[in-house]
Amino acid sequence: MQEKRTPWYKNAVFYEVSARAYFDSNGDGIGDIKGVTMKLDYIKQLGVDCIWLLPIFPSPLVDDGYDISDYYNIHPDLGSIADFRELIEETHQRGMRIIADLVVNHTSDQCEWFKQAEADENSPYRDYYVWSDSDQRYADARIIFVDTETSNWSWSEKAQKYYWHRFYACQPDLNYDNPAVREEMKNIMRFWLDMGIDGFRADAVPYLIEREGTNCENLPETHAYLKEMRKLIDEEYPDCILLAEANQWPQDLRPYFANGDEFHMAFQFPLMPRIFKALAKSDCSPIIEILNMTPEIPDACQWCTFLRNHDELTLEMVTEEDRQFLWNFYAPVKRMRQNLGIRRRLAPLLDGEPRKIELLNAILFSLPGSPIIYYGDEIGMGDNIYLEDRDGVRTPMQWTDGKNAGFSNAGEDSLYLPVIKSDQFSYTKINVAAQLEDPHSLFHHIRHLLEIRKQNPVWAEGSYEITYNEEYPALLTIKRTDGTNTIVTFHNLSDKTIPIELSMTGFAERKLVDLVQGTDLKESKLELSPYSYLWLIEQ
Ligand code: GLC
Ligand code: CA
Repeated sequence: MQEKRTPWYKNAVFYEVSARAYFDSNGDGIGDIKGVTMKLDYIKQLGVDCIWLLPIFPSPLVDDGYDISDYYNIHPDLGSIADFRELIEETHQRGMRIIADLVVNHTSDQCEWFKQAEADENSPYRDYYVWSDSDQRYADARIIFVDTETSNWSWSEKAQKYYWHRFYACQPDLNYDNPAVREEMKNIMRFWLDMGIDGFRADAVPYLIEREGTNCENLPETHAYLKEMRKLIDEEYPDCILLAEANQWPQDLRPYFANGDEFHMAFQFPLMPRIFKALAKSDCSPIIEILNMTPEIPDACQWCTFLRNHDELTLEMVTEEDRQFLWNFYAPVKRMRQNLGIRRRLAPLLDGEPRKIELLNAILFSLPGSPIIYYGDEIGMGDNIYLEDRDGVRTPMQWTDGKNAGFSNAGEDSLYLPVIKSDQFSYTKINVAAQLEDPHSLFHHIRHLLEIRKQNPVWAEGSYEITYNEEYPALLTIKRTDGTNTIVTFHNLSDKTIPIELSMTGFAERKLVDLVQGTDLKESKLELSPYSYLWLIEQ
């Protein structure tokens, strides 16, 4: 009998990197691809298996690179195709993988295709986009960037028509009813996969196709095209993955896995805000409720779980009541709010409290799914809410307490964004060099947890069971088991000590080992101090 092989992404640790923000190799004030290559040993040391690189393509940068003007090239600020090849090679040499962004839904209005489409109604590119004489079509589609956009239609003077866009007006949607567009996007996939990348994080996938009378999200026609993309991967690039960015409720998110023939992975969007709610309420029921609402996924698929990313902490998929609660709790200052979310990083959201930051990471690593860490969050970087758009969570990585946080040799004024200098989160205190030296730093803490995760494949394949304790709602207990191994993790979401009786947790009378301390557990009655956690394995 052939042995069942666990696909690599089922227990991989992902790390989200912005080349612009990571390290500036040539002193022009802008991080670049070579800079990422120079820092690969650091990324490897953290325990990362796969890097997700934010968009690196030519772009006018109105949406930080998600407005692409040339899909077959690299943004000159960031380097060259040769640099990118080198990054891929060096990543692979260290036993890691790398995926890139595939911005499927829209281009920049500065893309040659859109320019030609606007200028000439007979251009083959005209039909690359979605045009209308009226701005009243598809009226049931919501607006996503509510802070800046008032309609999903914008008027083109040149074309004398409206064009459709789900994001900024400068990001016209591609027309997936056009076979030429469907082929073009596949060629773009091949272009980058041939270079050696290991797959894509596919951007904004629910919105590919529009139909009158629907909300134009998650349509069957959209799923049909996504399956074509998957087919290409299976046939031409097996072992590469597609990771879906679909910010949807669980019942609408599940179809992106289909029968294991659409996405390999999808971000676990519904779970994320509920982890923050559970902490704020000292009650783990929001986490349990959403997981109970989340349908099973096919065996070869996996969730990608996260706490933060490069966007605002989205509150689109929570009730109005929860949104108000989470805004009031985590974004008391108006400037912290953006669209239907919160533009803050993990550490400031948790008041920079190490035990809360460690706790949330421990929960993330215990729940089903492969976790992803946003660059800088592994050292507890701060943010700057006074910068525009989402720039406040995209500031330079803090390497040292020296000039420009060790990010760049350029003059301070030429940095693409200022480094974080505010008291608590200043780079003079929070930086990689300091944390590498301190064995008790957040970096080493997270590195250690990831190492434990990796040594115990039960986290990849095991089933999970979460128990709610009526007496202690703040106690989140997660049991993972694969028949051979059982791991139980306890997390205290409150500022009160919680007693734990191991005999009452359904844990067998076997030897228990504290995974984090690496010590045998002698007592069966324990105390979990405020915001602490305990990971146990049965041996
Ligand atoms: C995704 C990206 C976000 C971008 C949007 C439009 O949601 O994560 O940064 O603004 O797509 O491309
Ligand atoms: Ca540079």
